Amino acid sequence: MRGWMDKIKNVLVYDADKEFYARVFPESLSRIDLLRLRIMTRADLPAVMEIERKNYPFPWDEDIFIDCFKVGYGCWVCEENGLILGYCIMTMGVGEAHILNVSVAPEEQGQGIGRKMMESMIEKAKNEAETMFLEVRPSNPGAIALYKKLGFNEIGTRKGYYPAESGREDAIMFALELL
Ligand SMILES: CC(C)(COP(=O)(O)OP(=O)(O)OC[C@H]1O[C@@H](n2cnc3c(N)ncnc32)[C@H](O)[C@@H]1OP(=O)(O)O)[C@@H](O)C(=O)NCCC(=O)NCCS
Repeated sequence: MRGWMDKIKNVLVYDADKEFYARVFPESLSRIDLLRLRIMTRADLPAVMEIERKNYPFPWDEDIFIDCFKVGYGCWVCEENGLILGYCIMTMGVGEAHILNVSVAPEEQGQGIGRKMMESMIEKAKNEAETMFLEVRPSNPGAIALYKKLGFNEIGTRKGYYPAESGREDAIMFALELL
């Protein structure tokens, strides 16, 4: 039964069809398939800030997230049964999408959630942008591995972009062509 369902899933399931399969064949979908992204609200900020503080030596203040809401950036959370597992922030304009933050709760990392959020952002951006950009610390091999696996190319560096324990750290700039 399971093999038969997997075959159907592999041939037919696209993102848009997953709601249907989740209802009809819930056992044929993985945990990651079933996770959903939704727009972040102010009520999410305590949970988001908890992850932000655990994940970064120089975390964003809550005010930065509030400013992102105010200016209309795409602010998303990835949730499972009411628990926030990760979040991402994306800006869009003049044919360019820019990922400002992507972050998965430490205990949930390495299970495909970062990839799922980034793939969702790429899908959303494709409607409005030709290129997606992001910056990453050279000291963050996990994030660099994820971006390379998604097809991002290194396009340069921004000198002294990030605060660091010993002054400033450069950013590696990555770009992904969406067309
Ligand atoms: C970077 C981050 C978002 C990745 O999310 P994640 O859920 O842990 O990553 P995933 O499990 O989706 O992994 C996606 C791919 O990247 C690779 N990858 C992820 N972390 C890796 C690591 N530490 N080393 C090597 N490869 C890694 C995986 O092998 C995986 O490849 P696959 O999909 O082909 O199997 C997450 O680790 C995180 O929140 N880190 C702290 C915050 C941060 O640094 N954000 C990025 C700022 S630029």
